[in-house]
Amino acid sequence: MRTGVVIVAAGSGKRMGGQRNKLWLPLAGEPILAHTVRLFAAHQDVDQIVLVVSEQDHADVLKWLKKEAIRLTVVLGGAERQDSVRSGLGALSENCTYVLVHDAARPFVTREQISDMIRKVEHDQATIMAVPVKDTIKVVGATGIVEATPARESLWAVQTPQAFRMSLLREAHEAAHRAGKMGTDDAMLVEWLGHPVTIVQGSYENIKITTPDDLWFGEEILRKRKGE
Ligand code: CTP
Ligand code: MG
Repeated sequence: MRTGVVIVAAGSGKRMGGQRNKLWLPLAGEPILAHTVRLFAAHQDVDQIVLVVSEQDHADVLKWLKKEAIRLTVVLGGAERQDSVRSGLGALSENCTYVLVHDAARPFVTREQISDMIRKVEHDQATIMAVPVKDTIKVVGATGIVEATPARESLWAVQTPQAFRMSLLREAHEAAHRAGKMGTDDAMLVEWLGHPVTIVQGSYENIKITTPDDLWFGEEILRKRKGE
């Protein structure tokens, strides 16, 4: 049973507001991208990694991988995250039965959580990491008036990794592509096929580095882990 991983890194980090893709910003002195790639590259249960990058970052990523002597497949992404995942899926070996899709911008997922996801997907075929929401969530209409308050117990904030039988995720991406449908995560495309998706409870530390305040929070997470 071989497991592949698609790490999507082909964004531009607009909300971070810098000159370059946010994934080059340092966390404990190392690019965010380096933390994420190293973790998966060192994982015993991962057989292939496809790293999806933008044209702007391509040369620098290859240089960094060479320096680190990390061997993996690098492909170019697309305009939207969904396009980048699709591009990554196309480069995965046919020998992979399962695939994990992960945001490069989530460097704090742990080795144990990756193992949990792999165990779970072998049973469920589609499973995603998520945490219960802490806030009350409101549905607000275009007029700015609250329309509904869904029961908090039923709400989960979704993260990555998201893990799938590879044939299922490929089918879901192809169907969405043909129909011109964009989902906000990969699971949504699988849900559209009518396939059940299960949850693996993640951790509140598995944040996505999105805005500048996430950087100092990230530094704190690393400091805490070092002291553990
Ligand atoms: N991503 C990608 N291809 C895209 C857009 C995003 O591979 N066309 C990747 C990002 O590099 C990131 C992950 O998807 O690792 C999650 O996206 P997000 O946090 O939104 O990153 P960006 O799109 O780069 O940031 P922003 O939305 O602020 O521009
Ligand atoms: Mg984005």
